[in-house]
Amino acid sequence: MASRSKKVRDKVVLAYSGGLDTSVAIRWLQQKYDLEVIAVSINVGQPGDLQEAVDRAVEIGAVQAYAIDATDDFVKDYIGPSLKANALYMGTYPLATAIARPLIAKIMVDIAKKEGAKYIAHGCTAKGNDQVRFDVSIAALDPELKIIAPMREWVMTREDEIEYARQNDVPIKVKKECPYSTDENIWGRSCECGILEDAMAEPPKDAYEWTVDPEDAPDSPEYVDVHFRKGVPVGLDKKKRMPLTDIVKKLNQLGGEHGCGRVDHIEDRLVGIKSREIYECPAAVILINAHRDLEKMVLTKDLFSYKRGVEQRFSELAYDGLWFSPLAEALMAFVDKTQEFVEGTVRVKLYKGSATVVGRSSPHSLYDTGLATYADGDHFDHRSAEGFIYVWGLPLRTVAKAQKK
Ligand code: ARG
Repeated sequence: MASRSKKVRDKVVLAYSGGLDTSVAIRWLQQKYDLEVIAVSINVGQPGDLQEAVDRAVEIGAVQAYAIDATDDFVKDYIGPSLKANALYMGTYPLATAIARPLIAKIMVDIAKKEGAKYIAHGCTAKGNDQVRFDVSIAALDPELKIIAPMREWVMTREDEIEYARQNDVPIKVKKECPYSTDENIWGRSCECGILEDAMAEPPKDAYEWTVDPEDAPDSPEYVDVHFRKGVPVGLDKKKRMPLTDIVKKLNQLGGEHGCGRVDHIEDRLVGIKSREIYECPAAVILINAHRDLEKMVLTKDLFSYKRGVEQRFSELAYDGLWFSPLAEALMAFVDKTQEFVEGTVRVKLYKGSATVVGRSSPHSLYDTGLATYADGDHFDHRSAEGFIYVWGLPLRTVAKAQKK
């Protein structure tokens, strides 16, 4: 008689960070859902040893573990388009955490397809934006996949999790509890919770890791020339061709030394809560400032102005987890078209927390000293001014007469 075949367990692809939550999640997914766990650790430029993480996942019992360095894809396909759109949520936050989520979701979906997994799991909680970004991005890429968010389901405190790990043979390295909730990648570091929840409390020194306190920054400024082509940075100073990843890394380091790129603001989460957020994003702040400045030189007045509205809408879509939406795609196509002539060099001065643009030049500059000058060489036709103003003001003159009380 043929033996009954062993029951085949379904597979779940888990976004695994190597920390307590997702380590406990491996066992929990096995026990609660009877699933085979495939752990995926993705590098988007954050510190930490990916290989160590996946080794731990296997030790805990994952049947497969992937370590994927996606930094270059992140820079090219997510940071590039965001920078071209000068993407700043609420005019302030360069969206580092937000724009990494669709990429991570995409990698997870690809692995789920390859492995024949029906489930994807992530370690987001119920109060944040990230759960929405993951769930919505995964749904946009493969609506058949089912999503499990263990931390949204279980009711365990940190202490409970440690106890669960002990009882269920989950090897964990319990680190000293960080007083904040943080997230990092090459575009920036996010920091929230703890004392920062007091909106009036100045962030303590230990809330910052990438940047020196501007008060302690060098007393002499540093200048950096950023070279752009088609809206994308292509070099720094004497190096006219550099990979964008290297440019971002270099500016994080330089800007960090000068205390640039600190952000402290009240943010509207998409789940309806206002939260107080701290960011460190030197490269993002330097590059967005520089890029927008160059656009002022090469874009027409109406294009620049119209694009500002597109930028805001795009930033909201990216924040709200709608990166893979038709509207976001269409806006990116618009933004791309605007970047054709965004070429040139912008000089930025880094000094005690500020990144100030102090010079710019472009082969496609619309800035014409012959028109702008108040000195010799002026070729603006002064006589035309009067007639222009007559026509420009005509509607208002007409209104004033017609509506005279
Ligand atoms: N508020 C930011 C955002 O929604 C950062 C979230 C950071 N995540 C974290 N686990 N601390 O994009």
